[in-house]
Amino acid sequence: MMTTTPARFNAFRIHDDAAGYRSGIEQIALDDLAPGEVVIRAEYSSVNFKDALAGTGKGKILRKAPLVGGIDVAGRVVASTDPLYREGDAVLATGSGLSETRDGGYSEYVRLPAQWTIALPDGLSLRESMILGTAGFTAALALLRMEENRQAPALGPLAVTGATGGVGSLAVAIFARAGYQVSAISGKPEADAYLRELGAHEVLGRDALSTTRPMDTARFGGGLDNVGGPMLAALLAHTAPYGNVATAGLAASPDLHATVMPFIIRGVSLLGVASAGTARDIRDEVWRRLAADWKPATLERICTREATLSDLPDVFDKMLAGGSFGRTLVRLTS
Ligand SMILES: NC(=O)c1ccc[n+]([C@@H]2O[C@H](COP(=O)([O-])OP(=O)(O)OC[C@H]3O[C@@H](n4cnc5c(N)ncnc54)[C@H](OP(=O)(O)O)[C@@H]3O)[C@@H](O)[C@H]2O)c1
Repeated sequence: MMTTTPARFNAFRIHDDAAGYRSGIEQIALDDLAPGEVVIRAEYSSVNFKDALAGTGKGKILRKAPLVGGIDVAGRVVASTDPLYREGDAVLATGSGLSETRDGGYSEYVRLPAQWTIALPDGLSLRESMILGTAGFTAALALLRMEENRQAPALGPLAVTGATGGVGSLAVAIFARAGYQVSAISGKPEADAYLRELGAHEVLGRDALSTTRPMDTARFGGGLDNVGGPMLAALLAHTAPYGNVATAGLAASPDLHATVMPFIIRGVSLLGVASAGTARDIRDEVWRRLAADWKPATLERICTREATLSDLPDVFDKMLAGGSFGRTLVRLTS
């Protein structure tokens, strides 16, 4: 027998209409949610940069409105018309149109398409899966892409920019767990001990890479860039022959002013990482690694804040001001 959901429940909903862009907690019903085969009682979500852009309207994330915010969610199935999912199953979803084209995870109950519902892999709790969330998925997807293109520890350390952020913190921990030396690049000198605890072998300031040359000393085997702009160009210039640089973010700038020299003289590769639209088979592989040999031992250290739906506006403002430190978990049960 299926569990009944309450007639109304809390959700953090975003509107964009003639009355303006606004977001906040509302009482909604299951019928208000986008269609899907799997209804879950959500336990955790998380806060990503994209959630802050969507929740404040400072970035164009929603492609329709109103929508429930939150690009990540994990919880237990309460009803499913797809026989693959049964009541009580622990599941998660990240990206996949949540808070872009369909209602997202900032809600006590969430309706998901079966196609994008992932059974929680053995080795992860629901809580751990959302400390990872889109941030951990993105860092691991970057490593998967780099290793598919022959990245190996012998090529040299991997640099991580925006290292204290969500993607950055998890990249430091995952890359170290996967056997790489990690150079964490951060604008927060006070985070030195934190980043070393996650596995960084060195912590560099944001200006450590600055260069005006198209190619500079090959000090990294490759890396993951979360900030864009001059830092990404500098990372390319400092990458060793046949190393890979994955680009995931634009916390500083969407611009890239670089020359072709690192590509044609050193064979450096620039790899794109787009977590939201990742194909299902790659998605399954990334979660399998995150639950096993790439699972960081420091997840609870990286979870620096636990928030409720009512805390979200404050978390968004801090994040957009560049003040992120680790990951904020959103608790959806009391
Ligand atoms: N492509 C994808 O699939 C994907 C997935 C997730 C996230 N992202 C993108 O990746 C980026 C990071 O996301 P997140 O959720 O980790 O955000 P976050 O937690 O806010 O982390 C961003 C970090 O970037 C650094 N930073 C912020 N402003 C900066 C500036 N002006 N100049 C240089 N560094 C700056 C800060 O680290 P330090 O103080 O340590 O330098 C900050 O902690 C965002 O642009 C996000 O949109 C992309």
